[in-house]
Amino acid sequence: MSSTVRTDGNGRKAFEAPRASRGGALLSLSLSLLLVTGSATAAEPTFRGGAAKDPARVVGPEKCGECHKSELATWGLTHHAQTFQEMHRKPRAQEIVGKLGGSRIKVNPYCLTCHYTEGMRDGKSVAMWGVTCESCHGAARDWVDVHNSYGPKGTTKETETAAHRTERLAKSAAAGMIRPQELYRAVSNCFQCHTVPDEELVNVGGHKPRSEFELVAWSQGEIRHNFKNSADAKNRPATAAHKRVLFVTGIALDLEYSLRAAARATKAGPYLDSASQAIAGARKRLQAVQAVTPLPAVAAMLKATDDLVAKAGDSAPLLRAAESVGTAAKGFVAEHDGNALASLDKLLPAASTYRGTPQS
Ligand code: HEC
Ligand code: HEC
Ligand code: HEC
Ligand code: HEC
Repeated sequence: MSSTVRTDGNGRKAFEAPRASRGGALLSLSLSLLLVTGSATAAEPTFRGGAAKDPARVVGPEKCGECHKSELATWGLTHHAQTFQEMHRKPRAQEIVGKLGGSRIKVNPYCLTCHYTEGMRDGKSVAMWGVTCESCHGAARDWVDVHNSYGPKGTTKETETAAHRTERLAKSAAAGMIRPQELYRAVSNCFQCHTVPDEELVNVGGHKPRSEFELVAWSQGEIRHNFKNSADAKNRPATAAHKRVLFVTGIALDLEYSLRAAARATKAGPYLDSASQAIAGARKRLQAVQAVTPLPAVAAMLKATDDLVAKAGDSAPLLRAAESVGTAAKGFVAEHDGNALASLDKLLPAASTYRGTPQS
């Protein structure tokens, strides 16, 4: 008896039920029907990482590259881009997907949620890229032509009116654009994927429970793309002040998303253990920040998570704490540009530990 359900051969060609126990003719039939009508099936993870959640609104990185050439070139050399060509060939990936009862990685609903970005082909959603621009900046169909338009023909960045600029940015945001200036929103995407908040994937599939993710080190290596506003079009490192903001924001988001991950745990096991350790680890790092530079926002994060024990099936207190930490983190980002936080520099990771090599 096969656990694979095939639909009509177009687009999302095959659906591999994540567990072998989900095989069987009757169930297959009902899954096929559900897929044809496009609704989510019980077998699909409800979770999806990153900001490109709706394939119908994804335009793809090539479109961005028409204008953002340097950003596209930089992105092309990252693991985020290359996972599309490489992941499905890895024996380790085959092993994970096999344990979950599937075989084809690029159509497996578990893997699609973090390793791939889906776009539309012939009216069906298909994995078309790895982790893309829109995974972090938002699916762009409704904002791509708005965010770069300075006004009537002939208007340039320099001659755009202040009112037009305000309206342009507001319209882009309303249409789903996540700007770099909205740092909390932009980098919260990293944690949605890198905390790997999927219990079955970890406990049954044996997937790595989370990345050893530290925002400065992980954003200033191969991921770094910082060309705009630079007359010489060089990929500039973040300033010392900006790195301090990234550092604190990263720990706060690690805490928030580890709490969210723990809230999804239904049983004891490696998944819950790893989330609990991550919560404790992030708290320790916040305490280290607090010892160097007392900050009210960080005090609020610690207070919200004091005496909190992550228990399986008891999500409410964890989600409440996550909300409080998130609110405090947004407050921190709004209040600080990092210039007054130089005392944190001794806690920041050394450049030699940055993940991958930035392009120049
Ligand atoms: C037709 C050219 C064009 C295309 C296509 C385009 N952009 Fe842009 N983009 C621009 C211009 C011009 C700006 C600067 C706008 C400004 O001055 O505020 C910009 C600004 C941005 C910014 C904000 C930078 C900042 O510091 O404020 C981001 C992020 C961005 N684009 C991402 C994307 C992504 C992602 C795509 C693809 C989905 C894309 N762009 C497609 C021209 C384009
Ligand atoms: C919730 C997000 C998420 C999902 C879902 C997910 N992955 Fe991953 N995966 C990641 C992240 C993040 C990394 C990078 C980990 C690192 O390097 O720290 C990764 C790394 C990997 C690696 C390399 C690391 C290793 O363990 O050897 C493999 C292989 C892999 N994933 C396979 C899969 C397969 C197969 C699926 C689908 C069954 C899948 N992943 C689903 C987020 C995810
Ligand atoms: C949609 C999910 C997703 C989002 C959003 C995301 N990542 Fe990733 N990231 C992954 C996956 C999956 C991998 C592993 C790819 C592989 O190796 O096949 C990865 C790999 C990486 C790597 C390479 C790690 C190595 O092996 O050296 C870095 C660095 C990284 N991510 C940083 C970031 C940062 C910084 C952000 C946010 C600004 C971010 N990621 C957002 C899914 C995501
Ligand atoms: C993994 C998440 C992620 C991916 C993928 C990503 N970005 Fe970004 N991008 C960010 C973040 C976060 C910032 C702000 C960094 C900061 O302020 O420290 C940023 C900054 C920018 C900026 C402003 C700085 C500059 O280079 O001018 C532009 C424009 C931009 N991104 C466009 C793109 C385009 C185009 C792509 C795809 C080719 C892309 N980004 C891929 C997360 C991402």
